[in-house]
Amino acid sequence: MFNSRIVSTGSAVPDFIIDNSMLAELVDTSDEWITTRTGIRNRRISRYKNTSDLASEAAEKCLKNAGIKVEEIEMIIVATVTPDTFTPSTACIVQQKIGAFKASAMDINAACSGFIYALDIADSMISAGRFKNALVIGAECLSKITDWKDRSTCVLFGDGAGAVFIEKSSESGIIKVSTGAEGDKSGYLISKALPPRDPFQNKGSFSNEDSYIKMNGQEVFRFATRIMVGSIKKLFDEYKISHKDIKLIIPHQANLRIIEFASKKLAIPMEKFYVNLQDYGNTSSASIPIALNEAVEKGMIEKGDLIIAVGFGGGLTYGSILIEW
Ligand code: COA
Repeated sequence: MFNSRIVSTGSAVPDFIIDNSMLAELVDTSDEWITTRTGIRNRRISRYKNTSDLASEAAEKCLKNAGIKVEEIEMIIVATVTPDTFTPSTACIVQQKIGAFKASAMDINAACSGFIYALDIADSMISAGRFKNALVIGAECLSKITDWKDRSTCVLFGDGAGAVFIEKSSESGIIKVSTGAEGDKSGYLISKALPPRDPFQNKGSFSNEDSYIKMNGQEVFRFATRIMVGSIKKLFDEYKISHKDIKLIIPHQANLRIIEFASKKLAIPMEKFYVNLQDYGNTSSASIPIALNEAVEKGMIEKGDLIIAVGFGGGLTYGSILIEW
């Protein structure tokens, strides 16, 4: 068995910023409602670039920071629920765009927990000696499946991408990854794909609107708070650590109230949680790697620091990770 560690990060977000007052032109909402219920003030929306474009930009920044050549990349995993196409996978498009032609490439879908799931796969493959390194990306254009007439969801989401490069290491790095799912709650957060079609009948039609996100906000809120609290507590108990041993917790950036709930319940100061949802909203699988990259760029994480990331989302899925940087 080998260790794997994250050696660099990168992210990319679209230029176009929609603030809460602009949303109030589209739906019956207000800056006050959105800010107090979610903490979100702005989100980035991609008008022209697709998911693979944002993923490739994040990847290129990450690789520049790693100082490695693209031909050295052995595996690309993209976590996304908003791929450019059913096939090829977004990872294959990224492979072509960045010129990483020696890399194996695949997408995975675990919604907002997707980045943690993808890291789990990459870490396991490296630990088993199957690959020496991997480019792991979370990338979304959620605006493609957002119902801009539904005030209960359109205020929450945004577009973006984040990437990490991980490689085999003799030093400590990824210490523990856990993932899980509660498929019995799948109906609480849905974006439909194409339905079955009888080739002998022309009945039925499917429009873009059918893919728009539908959500039971209160049930997802309940799940998210339970997962946030439970995942962090489990890691603390298993490794006999407390928040004092942790430099930073990077939660999925869905709603400030979810993070505040976990902070209060676990008696962890809010300063320990990295929060940037006010700027980007919920970018699903991209939210954790974007936040991680920002924290690294701000010099908030140094070698040897312990950090935790926790994700939760559609599926319903969840995942957590403990890392020594
Ligand atoms: N602006 C103004 N009013 C809004 C609104 C908006 N954008 N969205 C909903 N409302 C209204 C509702 O219609 C409702 O009005 P009513 O009482 O007249 O029926 C009222 O606000 C309360 O709605 P409710 O859904 O109970 O609000 P809430 O406090 O549960 O907050 C969420 C809604 C979506 C912010 C909250 O449930 C949430 O964050 N859930 C988790 C969602 C999430 O994180 N999903 C992604 C997970 S990866």
